[in-house]
Amino acid sequence: MENNHWWNNSVVYQIYPKSFQDTNHDGVGDLRGIIEHLDYLKKLGVDIIWLNPIYESPQVDNGYDISNYKAINPTLGNMDDFQELIDGIHERGMKLVMDLVVNHTSDQHHWFQESRKGKDNPYRDYYIWRDGKDGQEPNNWGSYFSGAAWKYDQQSGQYYLHLFAPQQPDLNWENPKVRHTVYDMMNWWAAKGVDGFRMDVINLISKPAGLPDAPQSGDEKYGNVEPLVSNGPRIHEFLQEMNKNVMSKHKMVTVGETPGATPDDAKKYANLDNSELNMVFQFEHMGLDSNPNPALGKWFDQKASLKDLRANLTKWQEKLYGIAWNSLYWNNHDQPRVVSRFGNDQTEDYRVKSAKMLATMMHMMQGTPYIYEGEEIGMTNAYFPKLEDYVDLESINAYHQLVDDQHLLDGKTMMKYIALHSRDNARTPMQWDDSEYAGFSDHLPWEKVNPNYKQINVKKALADQNSVFYYYQKLIELRHTLPVITNGKYALVPGNEDDDAIFAYTRQSDETTLLVILNYTDQVVERHYDVPTKAKLLISNYADDQGNTIRPYEAKVYQF
Ligand code: GLC
Ligand code: CA
Repeated sequence: MENNHWWNNSVVYQIYPKSFQDTNHDGVGDLRGIIEHLDYLKKLGVDIIWLNPIYESPQVDNGYDISNYKAINPTLGNMDDFQELIDGIHERGMKLVMDLVVNHTSDQHHWFQESRKGKDNPYRDYYIWRDGKDGQEPNNWGSYFSGAAWKYDQQSGQYYLHLFAPQQPDLNWENPKVRHTVYDMMNWWAAKGVDGFRMDVINLISKPAGLPDAPQSGDEKYGNVEPLVSNGPRIHEFLQEMNKNVMSKHKMVTVGETPGATPDDAKKYANLDNSELNMVFQFEHMGLDSNPNPALGKWFDQKASLKDLRANLTKWQEKLYGIAWNSLYWNNHDQPRVVSRFGNDQTEDYRVKSAKMLATMMHMMQGTPYIYEGEEIGMTNAYFPKLEDYVDLESINAYHQLVDDQHLLDGKTMMKYIALHSRDNARTPMQWDDSEYAGFSDHLPWEKVNPNYKQINVKKALADQNSVFYYYQKLIELRHTLPVITNGKYALVPGNEDDDAIFAYTRQSDETTLLVILNYTDQVVERHYDVPTKAKLLISNYADDQGNTIRPYEAKVYQF
C-alpha cells in the first residue's frame, strides 16, 4: 500500500504563538515573532507549521475560547501580519495548518451573546440549553476543567452546557445552521491559503440523544463525560458532511484531536478512503501514566512502563496499517515535556541521550510526526514549586477541587503532581538564548521562563553538532529520503514483547529493512539481535557502536 499524499512523508512543527517569540515588547509572543524564525524552521527541515489558535479571544483558555473566527487576536498581530506569515511559509515551501475550535465558542462570541438573550432568540439553538432537574443541573456531567459542565444563566432561566470552562459554551451541532456556518468559515480560511486544520476535540461535537447521566465512580464528584460524549452517535455523519463541503474542495491536510478514540474509531476517522479526516491525535499512550483512581485523572507521579508503552504503540501501528493513517506525537501544548516524562532530565548527558532515543522511537514509526516547539532542543518540564507560578486554569481548578474541596490529596502531593503534569510545562517561553527571558522577550513574559534556559537554548543547540536539534534534523531528512519510513510494514522483533529495557522493531518494504533498537533505561544491557554484516548504521545517539552491549538510552537504527 503506497501512501503518497503530499503530507504522507511530511513532518509537522507545532507553534504555541503566545510562547514562541515576542517582538513588540509586551511579554507575549506574536505573529511577527514567528515570521522572524521561519528560516530556523526551514533549517530544521519541517514541512508543515501548525499554529495554536490565533483568533480574537478573551484568552480564558489561551485562545481556545474564540469570540470571532474571522479576526486575529490583536495581541498577536493583524491580518496583514497573517498574510505576511502565510506568504513567508509558502515561499519556503512549507504549509500552514490552523487550529479549528468548533466544539465550543467563547461566551463573548456574538452568537452566544444573542443566544442568552432568551428562548426565542434566533441564535438560541446555536448552543445547548436545558431546564434544570429538581433545582439542579440537567444531568451529572463534569467539566474537563473541574466542576459541573452546566452553568445556570439568570437572564434566560436555563442551563447551558460547557464541557470545558463556563466561558466556553458548547455549540449545538444538531443545528444544520451551525454546521454550515462552520463550513463556510473553513472555506473562508482556505481561500486565504490555509493548507489544513487541526480540529480541537472534534470527536466531542455529537452529544448523545437525551443527554443521559455519565458513569460516576467512587470519589468522583461528577460523572465522567468522556465515554459518553466522545465518538457520539452522529460524529461520522458530521465529519463526512464537513468533508464534502470543505476538505474535498481543497488540497488540505486534517488532523482531529480525538480523546477516547480507539484504533477502531480511528479506522473510521482517518480511513485511507479520505471520507473524513486524514489522521487523528489519539490519547492512549498519553494515558499510560494516569492515576489508577479515576477521580484523580492524570494527576500522578509514576512513569509509564516500557511494556505498556511498547504494547500501545505497537497496537496502533499494526491496527491502522493499510487501513488508516497514524499521527505520531509525544508532546503538544497540553502535555508535559517528553524528555522529563518518558526520558531522563536528571543529568545533561541523559537529557540529550534520552531525548534522542525517544525521538527515534516515534520518528521511525509509520504516520505523520509532530514536533512541539522546544522539543527539538530537548526542553524539559519547568517543575515550578508553587501554585502561584502556574497560569493554566486546568491545574489551578484541579488543585482547588482535589485538595480544598474534596480533600482527596494533601497540598504537597498535589503540587508534586502538578509539577510533573501541568500544561504550563509546555507553555513556558521558547528558549532561544541565554539572555534575560531566554531571548523570548525583553519584557517580563506572560508565563515564567524555565530556570534552565542558560543550559538549554537554541543558540547553544545550533553551535553543537551533537545537539538534540541536529538529531531531529537528521530524523526528518531520513523520512524525506527513505520511503520505507513512510510505507514500510512495522513489526516487533520476535521475543521483544516482555523486555523491560529494550524496545526493538523493524520496518520492512520490498527493497529494504530498518531495525530500530532502543534502550528505555539508564542501565547497560546485553542483547543479541541478528544484524547482517552488510547492514549500515543509519543513525545513533552514541559516537560508536558496541554491538550487543546497549548503553543507557542508546538508540540505533540499522538498514539492510
Ligand atoms: C483541547 C486543547 C486544549 C483546550 C481544550 C478546550 O484539548 O488542546 O488546549 O483547553 O481542547 O478547547
Ligand atoms: Ca508581543
